Amino acid sequence: MDARADFGKRGGLASLAITTPYSTCELLPEHGAHILSFIPSGESDLLWLSSLAGFAPGTAVRGGIPICWPWFGDDYPRGDLQNHGFARIAPWELDRVEIAGNGEVEVSMSLAPSDWTRSMWPYEFKLEYRIVVGRTLRATLTTTNMGDTTFGLSQALHTYFQVGDISETVVEGLDGVEYYDALDDLKKKCQIGDVMFAENVDRVYIHSGKELFIRDGAMDRRICISKKGSASDVLWNPWTDKAAAMADFENDGYKRMVCVETTNALDDKRTVAPGDFHAMTMEIGVV
Ligand code: BG6
Repeated sequence: MDARADFGKRGGLASLAITTPYSTCELLPEHGAHILSFIPSGESDLLWLSSLAGFAPGTAVRGGIPICWPWFGDDYPRGDLQNHGFARIAPWELDRVEIAGNGEVEVSMSLAPSDWTRSMWPYEFKLEYRIVVGRTLRATLTTTNMGDTTFGLSQALHTYFQVGDISETVVEGLDGVEYYDALDDLKKKCQIGDVMFAENVDRVYIHSGKELFIRDGAMDRRICISKKGSASDVLWNPWTDKAAAMADFENDGYKRMVCVETTNALDDKRTVAPGDFHAMTMEIGVV
């Protein structure tokens, strides 16, 4: 099968459907550069997307891979601004779609400063997002400081993975790693063994390694998440009450998803000096 890229629509938003000999991928190149799905051949979607997700300018999409930037959570001293920064609801530019000789498809998107971004975050920047769709999905987010003031940067590729059943899902690779527990006043704790889910989980793991695995007993598959430029990971599952409280989240949706987010958060926040850049890469695939 030849690789191709087809333009379409999701609600009121432009979408791009990528087909390669190895996988398919759908994204919203001009709305948050938001990836909605990544399906390796013969597999079901690696990503979870809420059936109640809205697709409208200026609103965040529930599921897929939202880009949290230039701050993660409420890590920015202006309480009137929304969680997770503005990149995920911003209008982006689609710069290039390229079909490589090996059948992979590369998509480059960017976000530039505007009066709107300056009204929230007064810095000059270039934000570039390059994704490579093939046997795996590789996503690199590069932040360049184009101004003359150093800025702080916390961010996430806030990936919602689809799982068969959360009660049979285990995240491997964090044994012995310290984390801040967002559900317990950000107390620092230490992970013992693999992570299992039987309640609301909201944690920032710090000084974590370069590779994590999601072992999905119900689907009988193992997803590998590898990364560069990130030494922290966020694990999130809202469980029953928080899922029910979100209008765009099915009440039982928490059973079929887990967020394992490649981040620069808390102790792993970065500073970017004028003229300098920081790149963070996440690669996901089935082992
Ligand atoms: C996670 C945070 O990254 O995102 C959670 O750790 C948060 O605290 C979740 O609830 C979802 O955030 P939002 O803004 O997309 O509802």
